[in-house]
Amino acid sequence: MEDLAPRPGDLEPIETASRDEIAALQLSRLKWSLRHCYENAPFYRKRFDDAGVHPDDLKSLADLARFPFTTKADLRDNYPFGMCAVPREKLVRVHGSSGTTGKPIVVGYTAQDISTWADLVARSIRASGGRTGDIVHVAYGYGLFTGGLGAHYGAERLGCTVVPMSGGMTERQVTLIADFKPRVIMVTPSYMLSILDEFRRQRIDPRDSSLAVGIFGAEPWTNAMRAEIEGAFDMHAVDIYGMSEIMGPGVANECVETKDGMHIWEDHFYPEVINPETGEVLPEGEMGELVFTTLTKEGMPMVRYRTRDLTRLLPGTARSMRRMEKIAGRSDDMMILRGVNVFPTQIEEQILKCRALAPHFQIELTRSGPMDSMTVHVECTPDATAPDARKAVAAELSHHIKSVIGLSARIDVHDPDHIARSEGKALRVIDNRPKR
Ligand code: DLL
Repeated sequence: MEDLAPRPGDLEPIETASRDEIAALQLSRLKWSLRHCYENAPFYRKRFDDAGVHPDDLKSLADLARFPFTTKADLRDNYPFGMCAVPREKLVRVHGSSGTTGKPIVVGYTAQDISTWADLVARSIRASGGRTGDIVHVAYGYGLFTGGLGAHYGAERLGCTVVPMSGGMTERQVTLIADFKPRVIMVTPSYMLSILDEFRRQRIDPRDSSLAVGIFGAEPWTNAMRAEIEGAFDMHAVDIYGMSEIMGPGVANECVETKDGMHIWEDHFYPEVINPETGEVLPEGEMGELVFTTLTKEGMPMVRYRTRDLTRLLPGTARSMRRMEKIAGRSDDMMILRGVNVFPTQIEEQILKCRALAPHFQIELTRSGPMDSMTVHVECTPDATAPDARKAVAAELSHHIKSVIGLSARIDVHDPDHIARSEGKALRVIDNRPKR
């Protein structure tokens, strides 16, 4: 793999600024953002008034803890434009998500918001090892989902040649990668695995491909998956984080030279980690729910937005801005089985330890009587389809899950290609438990 440490002059001054400089910038921007919300978004004015706080009460960054949280329910209740802080005509774009529970959410962007977003995705691609002049293959979905267009504008802003492939048509993805020879690919990690399968199906060695950097996000993935993808393609695999409500991809990004969690672009987003039960702000290093306040967003600013993503804040390394640890999962994805809390990422880690298993999986939850049970659906590799080999690998995985996570799971080892492939975010958990 190429050595991709940044060269002198590659970084923006804010990326190496002192903590004091970053904090001073955050405080002045936070004051602006709270005032902007209060003066221009009736939703926030009422929220602040009801909580007995006023933007003038913010004298230090810590004072933000006095302000109320915003949640996804607020976005649903004010659908579509009720949380905007500018007249609707000032919005140049909307994105949205259907979510898993019914009513969709919509987010609106001003021209300035779109420009800031492009800058931050450009910064993210650079942190990942991408450079001006690269060909960037974008296989995140284009449309209301922020992945495709977010990646696209950022790559253009960095001065790259963009291939706007979107998700799907996997055979064609491989053909275009072979023909155009992109150096960078931006795609969900689970769809990258489908692309990997297709390379193998076409008998093209993925290690010979032009890809040097993959920028993977939009769903949780583990360091074990990073090793799997890096080994298969002989490329760097770097994590990108974001969400529609805050902006889209590029809220935080790993640096390729350290790959030690995502640096949060703190000049535009102020992070907090809270205890999800009490709402109390936790000290740096403690695991909890990530909360963001936007510092520069005009169209639809967010104050203390509860992401439901679980992580911890860590000090900066390759950049002075703080990092967030790889996301363990969303609080909604946490499964509780016989008193044991488990996330799909923990199962992923155990599957990737088994050499006779492909990296595709799905978890099925069922209930008989009072007991919930978990079946892990996996696929054997093409050279491990014999009954004995399947039995052995099922026992191996069951042993890892029991000894590391403390859970008894049923393992179903299917033929290669059995598990439905994702073209975007993978569906990891199928909950077949009857509603109580
Ligand atoms: O997934 C934005 C995005 C697109 C990020 C492309 C990265 C790359 P939403 O569809 O609103 O936006 O979903 C946001 O996805 O709250 C997390 O639960 C999850 N997520 C996003 N990035 C990561 C990541 C986009 N790197 C939700 N690791 C977030 C783990 C992630 N989970």
